[in-house]
Amino acid sequence: MKKSLLDTLNTTSRHSRSTVEAVLSARRGERQYKEFTRTWKINAVIQMLGTTATELARVSSDLDIHPTKVRYQFEYSLDQIQRIRRQIKKPQPPKTLPVISVMSGKGGCSKTTFAVYLAQKLVLEGKRVLFIDTDPQASATSIVLAVNPDIAFEPDDTIAPFMMGHDDDLASKAIVTGMSGLDLIPCCQGASIMDLQGIAGDSNSSAEVVNRFWTLRERLAEFKDQYDVLIIDTPPTVTFTNIRCAIASNLIISPIAPSMTDICSSTGYENTLRDYLESLMEIAPEKSLGIYERRFLISQYDHRLQSHRNFAELIRKTYPTTYATPFSNLAEISNTNENGNTIYEERTAINSSATRKKALTMLDFLFNEVIEDIESLSKMENTEKELLEVSYG
Ligand SMILES: Nc1ncnc2c1ncn2[C@@H]1O[C@H](COP(=O)(O)OP(=O)(O)OP(=O)(O)O)[C@@H](O)[C@H]1O
Ligand SMILES: [Mg+2]
Repeated sequence: MKKSLLDTLNTTSRHSRSTVEAVLSARRGERQYKEFTRTWKINAVIQMLGTTATELARVSSDLDIHPTKVRYQFEYSLDQIQRIRRQIKKPQPPKTLPVISVMSGKGGCSKTTFAVYLAQKLVLEGKRVLFIDTDPQASATSIVLAVNPDIAFEPDDTIAPFMMGHDDDLASKAIVTGMSGLDLIPCCQGASIMDLQGIAGDSNSSAEVVNRFWTLRERLAEFKDQYDVLIIDTPPTVTFTNIRCAIASNLIISPIAPSMTDICSSTGYENTLRDYLESLMEIAPEKSLGIYERRFLISQYDHRLQSHRNFAELIRKTYPTTYATPFSNLAEISNTNENGNTIYEERTAINSSATRKKALTMLDFLFNEVIEDIESLSKMENTEKELLEVSYG
């Protein structure tokens, strides 16, 4: 008898099958999102929060928070940690809300994986993050929520109605995910209509069409008091959506894999995006781009390959603002992905603690660089600098 897709996936998935099962058996309207079940030992919480055992015990008692016994020790959930963190250190709203778009013309270069890992890392560092999925493939939506996006969501649940000018409400589209501190505006295939309709739709004047390129930027600025960072995952290739996301961002990060085709495609994308932005600035000189930082990232890197090392050097020469740490392709990232999780969601190593440690070290180095950018953006009074002068020049 022919095996069903679920059977095949069940036998090929070596680890947890629950996510695969949940995704494939989902029915429209059934929305059971992934829970975040990981807990932390007291010593780890002390380290995470930069506090002392005495202060942790005192704040826990003040807030009536009780860690639960996991095996032989008491451990805190992320939700409890976030509440304690807020009590110890009141969050300071950023002066400028960092809005980060991860974009590239090349498909499959790790945009979504990087964006989701970055969002989760920021949440673990105590940031309130809104993740906006603008890619109709909706990979980020399925990773973060463990749903089949095309079954779980309608275009009306996504950013699409806003992009098409039908609905100004974006806040109510944000889903509180299982990971305390991370909200997500989901996407789904049907939302692809927003790309062309979002610009050409029912606008009847060219001024309105030009204005549409800036509406996302204007709307996102209003999230300043609710979130510390906004992260946007975008579809590959230059789309109207990507141009609007670029204009809405003050930091754009583009992963580039170390291969000739990826480098060629990236330079093509860069030039095209730049041309579009320049044309828009000519049409609307009174508008500002406000993109402060343009960064590149060597993705899918394997340091053992001479060709990767050579191409990485070429990427760094071509784009001097490339992050020093490559986003390496690592076994532990693939392994946890098979569980429908990220490394941050898993409590322990899938294969070996050495591979987990290697991945966590790489992620720490890389995200320290990104967080430095985010911190300096947050402190800026005004990001009304021109991308074309500041970062593309
Ligand atoms: N650092 C990594 N280590 C291991 N596997 C990775 C890593 N980064 C990405 N991958 C895997 O590579 C594949 C492509 O990654 P991803 O979906 O993030 O790319 P993308 O650029 O978002 O693709 P698209 O253009 O289709 O949106 C996925 O299967 C992902 O799990
Ligand atoms: Mg993607």
